[in-house]
Amino acid sequence: MSGSADRAATRVVVVPGGPLLVEGPVEVVLPDGTVRFCDRPVVALCACRRSRRYPFCDTSHRRRARPERASEPVVGQAEPVVGQG
Ligand code: FES
Repeated sequence: MSGSADRAATRVVVVPGGPLLVEGPVEVVLPDGTVRFCDRPVVALCACRRSRRYPFCDTSHRRRARPERASEPVVGQAEPVVGQG
């Protein structure tokens, strides 16, 4: 692109499991040619395709089931029996 040395690079922050945070304002061109504009200082762009406000994040990505942690007991799993016998 010409003129890219004349201005600072736009910063995009990738949130793991979440949106892309882009310094605004932004214009987003969708595949059908529709242009969506947002003038916020930081714009969250949906990367999961679940947003009802696509291309903008509406936090729908948070509804995903969380992976189980090793320290949490598994439902239906018997607790270990200690000191009996
Ligand atoms: S990244 Fe947040 S709704 Fe898709």
